[in-house]
Formats: sequence, C-alpha cells, structure tokens
Amino acid sequence: MARRKLVYEGKAKILYEGPEPGTLVQYFKDDATAFNAEKKDVIDGKGVLNNRLSEFFMLGLQRIGVPTHFIRRLNMREQLIRQVEIIPLEVIVRNFAAGSMAKRLGMEEGTPLPRPIVEFSYKDDSLGDPLVPEEYIIAFGWASQQDLDDIVALALRVNDFMAGVMHGVGIKLVDFKIEIGRVWDNDFMRLVVADEISPDSCRLWDIESGRKLDKDVFRQDLGDLADAYTEVAKRLGVMPSNA
Ligand code: C5P
Repeated sequence: MARRKLVYEGKAKILYEGPEPGTLVQYFKDDATAFNAEKKDVIDGKGVLNNRLSEFFMLGLQRIGVPTHFIRRLNMREQLIRQVEIIPLEVIVRNFAAGSMAKRLGMEEGTPLPRPIVEFSYKDDSLGDPLVPEEYIIAFGWASQQDLDDIVALALRVNDFMAGVMHGVGIKLVDFKIEIGRVWDNDFMRLVVADEISPDSCRLWDIESGRKLDKDVFRQDLGDLADAYTEVAKRLGVMPSNA
C-alpha cells in the first residue's frame, strides 16, 4: 500500500499529508505520555476513543459557530483536518483548581474558581511548556494583542460549550487545554481551534463520585485509562462501536 508523506509525529498523534492541498490527515496513536514524556505507555484503544471524542467536540463547536480545523473523520483512527499554522501556545481554561495551578498556589484540588481563568503556556517540550504572561506573548510576537483577545473569547466559548455538554452527562469540566491555529482564506486570516479535544487534554470528574475520567488516571496510576475514556464516550453516546 502506498504510504502517505509524514508531516509531523508528536507524542499521541501523527500528521500526514492530506489528499488535497491545505489538508492533513491526523492519526491518533495509542501512546500515552505524561510529565513531558517521562512516563510512557501504550493504552489499547485510546487512539480510537480520542479520534471519536475529538470529532464529537469539534463538530459540536462548529455547530455553535466556533471555527475548528476539523473537516471529517476518515476511519477509526484518522480524521481529515485543515492545515493550520499552530500558534505556539497551550491555551488553558480552568473552572476549578487542579494540577499545576493547585500546586503553584497551594490550593486544594477541586476548589471552585471565582470565574473561568484562561492562561497560556509556551509550547516547548524541552522547556516543559512554561507558563507565560500575555506580555511575553506580545513582546515576542507569538500573537498580537488582537489575536490574544480573540483567543481568550474563543477559549471561553469552548469552555461554555464543553462545560455544558459534560454537565449534561454528569461530568464536571475542571480544566482543559486547546491549541489555536491560523488559516488564511485568500487574504483573510481566521483563528480556529486545532489539535484535539479529548480526555487527554481535559480534566473530567464524575459529579456524583468524583471519579477522574481523564489523563490523570494515567498520570496518577488510578486505574485503567481506556475504561475511563470509554465511560466518557458511552455517556456522550459516541462509542466507536456505534459507528
Ligand atoms: O498540568 P496543568 O494543570 O497545567 O494542566 C491543565 C490542563 O491542560 C489539564 O486538563 C491538562 O490535561 C491539560 N494539558 C495538556 N497538555 C499539556 C499541559 C496541560 O493537555 N502539555
């Protein structure tokens, strides 16, 4: 079988050249990594679940008018996406204290925040994706002030949508990370949600029991990661077997 040209291989995904100019094929691997790849494993079926879940969230966002890179799912592990220029930032939205914020500020995990907080990390594995203030982003030219204002507005819309959808199935959206890309339609630049939205990039807690249903299960050795992701997919009605 003819192989496609590899464009980029990351920790959990591979990008191949797409069938038309300006498109890519995004392949979801079963690899799980944490702590900047110091902890690694292969979780059978994770890629299939994340492909499905990311499709679900991206389609839902498009339905409410939030532009994304998603074009269509191709098969169990692959989706066709628009090629974008990724802004080198991890855009994190938090509703409750957890993870690095809880640690940095000495807060108890699960403490509700006064309002959703958007923060930025500079995407660089060798530096461990350090938290950066807006001042750095603008001074170093990673994004303009206008871009940043638009990114914050986009991130908060994603948060409203995701929190609502998850609440509807008994899950608390603690926090999540998105990546934003630039696409050009002729001379007109648009910001779109890119990469993936999945339990790899969110914190999701069962509202009743507090059970973690996200990558913290892997980070903290809390049980079977595929079971947790399957629970999320089942509740959202997007199990891969319902193809
Ligand atoms: O670790 P931290 O608390 O900063 O993570 C905030 C959110 O961003 C979590 O949902 C985490 O899964 C996500 N994240 C991510 N990729 C990273 C860093 C954080 O998806 N490189």
